[in-house]
Formats: sequence, C-alpha cells, structure tokens
Amino acid sequence: MRGPGTLVLGIESTAHTFGVAVASDKEPHILSDERHKYVPEKGGIHPLEASLSFMKHAPTVIRKALEEAGVTPRELDGVAAAFGPGLGPCLRVGATAARALAAYYHKPLLRVNHAVAHVEIGRLLTGARDPVIVYLSGGNTLIAAQVGRRYRVFGETLDVALGNFMDHFTREAGLAPPYVVGGLHQLDRCAEGGKLIPGFPYIVKGQDVSFSGLLTHALRALKAGHRLEDVCYTVREIAYSAIIEITERALAHTGKNEVLLVGGVAASPVLRKKFEVMAAERGATVKVVPPKYAVDNGAMIAWTGVLMLRHGMITPPEKAYVRQRWRIDEFELPWFT
Ligand code: FE2
Repeated sequence: MRGPGTLVLGIESTAHTFGVAVASDKEPHILSDERHKYVPEKGGIHPLEASLSFMKHAPTVIRKALEEAGVTPRELDGVAAAFGPGLGPCLRVGATAARALAAYYHKPLLRVNHAVAHVEIGRLLTGARDPVIVYLSGGNTLIAAQVGRRYRVFGETLDVALGNFMDHFTREAGLAPPYVVGGLHQLDRCAEGGKLIPGFPYIVKGQDVSFSGLLTHALRALKAGHRLEDVCYTVREIAYSAIIEITERALAHTGKNEVLLVGGVAASPVLRKKFEVMAAERGATVKVVPPKYAVDNGAMIAWTGVLMLRHGMITPPEKAYVRQRWRIDEFELPWFT
C-alpha cells in the first residue's frame, strides 16, 4: 500500500556504490535504503569493472528498495539519479536505469547533482540551517556555503581529493585495502603513537589545498627508512590541518556559525575532533552527517529528488545526460528563496 506524501526513488552510482532508496516528503523521510558496493580485488577503483558489477546487481537492488519501502513503481511520483559528478561508466548505469524507469512508468525524471545530494541529506539529518559545508570523500574535497540560490565554493583541492590521498598513501604503505576498519581509516589507525617529522610540504594556496606533493614526499620518507607510524602521523596532521585552515577562513569570510561535515571522510572521529576544537574557538558548532549517510547512498539522491520534484526541476529522459565533472555551484537551488 502506498503511504501518504510524495515518493521518489533515487539511484546512486557515481563511484563504488550502487545504492537505491525511496524517500518521501513526509516523515519518516527515508523509506528504504539498499546498497551494493563494488570492492576491487586489488588497487583502486576500476571504473569499467565497477560499472559491470553495478549492471549485474542493479535489478535486485532496485527491486529490494521498492519492496522494503512497500511501494510499487506505479506508485512513485518521480525517479531520481545522480547524473554527476563521478566516473563515466558508473554514472551511466544509474542514469540508464533511471531513464528507463521514468520513461516506462511515465514518471518525472530528476537529474540530481551528487555533491548537492550529500549536502541535502546532511541538512536533513543534522538540522543544520546555514552551514559552511565541508565535503570530504574519495573523489571530493570541497568547502562550500549557500549564497543566494547556489552552494558557492570557498575552497577545494588543486589536485587529488583528501580521501583519494589517504587511500593511495595507505595502499602504497601496504596497509590497505580495506581502507576503513571499525569506522577508522587505516591512516588514523597507523598514526597512533606516531611523531611529527619536520620538513614535509604543507600546501595551502589562497583558499585551496594540494596533496600530491605531500604524497610523493611521504612515500619517499618511507623508502628512506622513517618509521611508518611517524610518516602516517605527519601526513595526517598536515592534511587535516590544511582542511581546517581553509574551513576556518571560510567561516570568518561568510560570518556563518555552523560547520556541516559530509562525505565518506567526514566519518573520521579524529578529523571531527579537530573541527570541534577550531569551531569552539570561533563560537561555531559542528554537525556531522551520521556515518551511514556520510558515504554514498541512494537515500541522499531520493531525498534531493523529493526537493527537486517539489520545485518542478524535471528533465525529459532524452535530455538527461551524465556529466562527469559537474560542479556543485553549477546547480541552482530553488528551495532557497
Ligand atoms: Fe560521494
């Protein structure tokens, strides 16, 4: 039986997770949340392999998400998918499934920006009103804040994302995968008991950060015989401090008094503590999206789809293309008047 309210099915497939969920504009907003995660046998994510794995599991994940919500496709009010930013082959699986469902069942299609969806699920679940947003994940490092009808960028990485840097380093150091064990990244785990090694590059340029030089330096330090825990501790302190520095400046610049942490790396308890120390000094509060929804998931796409449907942001299936690079500030937010 269909529950009350507007119901949207959301599909996430930008990187390693194929997630499907049904969200409603009425409470409880999240009616289901199914996920299939692609785990590479070794090394980093292989986009084509990930997409093949998504194709194989997509029908089951979609069916389960509908069943769990107790909704049939005909009872949906819209179909949403993340159309970018992300890895091309992965994005296309979710986009194709969403276009097919929307066309076959004559439902409005909602073309969701993945970065905006991270923010919207964060705002929904933490009650943050007007925060400086810190979006940290494997593929993204972004400081943003709402100005008018956009999330404007107040700092980002000039090269690799923080999560990518952490994964890459721990993999090269022989610690991963798995990258996260018991909710703690291998880098945080390995850094325990480590000491600071002087001379590592700390790169903040204006409002942007850079990690590629730090990665090269760290790997060289390991080869030169420095203790692993000392190298882990040093790179972690440098990388986290750079993020804290540009966030603090964004707070000062915008005059906002909330920080909202979203994205997979936001789940780091070590990083959270550092944010809390900085925010306390500025009289600001820190809100962190719950770990389950910090990582990629279908619920954030479905929920953003609900917001978009409410404002008539519908795209015809034939015009719904994927965009591997789709910046957060290119997406208009009509829910801010
Ligand atoms: Fe993400």
